Amino acid sequence: MKIIDLRSDTVTLPSDSMKKAISSAPLGDDVFGEDPTVNALQERAAEITGKEAALFVPSGTMGNLISILSQCARGTEIILGDQSHTFLYEGGGVSTYGGIQSRQLRNQRDGTLDLTDIKNAIRTKDDHFPETGMICLENTHNRCFGAPLSISYMNSVSNIAKEHHLKIHVDGARIFNAAVSLNTSVKELVSVANSISFCLSKGLSAPVGSLVCGRQEFIAKARRIRKSLGGGMRQAGIIAAAGLEALDIMIERLKDDHENARKLAEGIQNISGLFLDLNNIHSNIVYFEIKTENGKTFLERMAGNGVLFFQISPGIFRMVTHYGITSEDIDRVLKLLEDELS
Ligand SMILES: Cc1ncc(COP(=O)(O)O)c(C=O)c1O
Repeated sequence: MKIIDLRSDTVTLPSDSMKKAISSAPLGDDVFGEDPTVNALQERAAEITGKEAALFVPSGTMGNLISILSQCARGTEIILGDQSHTFLYEGGGVSTYGGIQSRQLRNQRDGTLDLTDIKNAIRTKDDHFPETGMICLENTHNRCFGAPLSISYMNSVSNIAKEHHLKIHVDGARIFNAAVSLNTSVKELVSVANSISFCLSKGLSAPVGSLVCGRQEFIAKARRIRKSLGGGMRQAGIIAAAGLEALDIMIERLKDDHENARKLAEGIQNISGLFLDLNNIHSNIVYFEIKTENGKTFLERMAGNGVLFFQISPGIFRMVTHYGITSEDIDRVLKLLEDELS
């Protein structure tokens, strides 16, 4: 029986072509800047995001941390969403390693931060206050139904940031999903951002790695901080090769994941006992609710039938479509859900 693993797009395994690319990648010591495959990946990432330069880092968490530490001094404050990955799931790294305080604003259902809330949260000059240094946004927004942030929203945030001399960082772990969902380019989506980090190891299915992109000067600083965090990797071309392949072949197919997510959501909507709002289906992430069942035993029964997913909070479940999930898998999941609830 095939295990249908809908817990996350991080469970994706590398394609055969990635494994091939890994086995033939030219390598060197990347801490010396001498790994040609890493260099090629960084150039490619800079080009795709429309930024001057890029840096290969081991994970999205480190990408966000490096981006923030490179641009915010100790004792400053960053504005971010209360549902953001950086606030919830990154071990409090910005305060642990950067002495930076986070100011959480309520994320709206579409992943945005209310513009008035942002304006009100920016500190005025006063010896009592920390200085606000940055606004952090997440695109697509994991906890907010995989919603993409639009170019016009980004521009509105940018106007506020410019007025107050603040930086903008985008956690673009799934920025390619956002671009596909909005039918636009990543370049356009991040044009107002000072820094963007994106992941190769989620929907793009590479085994390891993220890229941080921005201006040359920022990337030089980011490189120093990566080293001090222990993120300098030697013959990292071994994994960068899979990343290059991912950028070549995996972006195009993200629309299949989005179609599968919609099919899954439409099916779930028709199952009595399960609840979701189709307006909340934007990319590859599907949240739904059960009101009557014990969530834990429901999950266990589904797992017993080979379908894995998470309970995010009591009665609220998340399924994520990805490279390892086919349209036929969605049919099987829907049939099992129907059987479970009938
Ligand atoms: C929105 C978002 N940002 C950052 C990360 C962190 O990525 P990593 O697991 O590579 O550290 C994740 C991981 O799921 C994520 O969903």
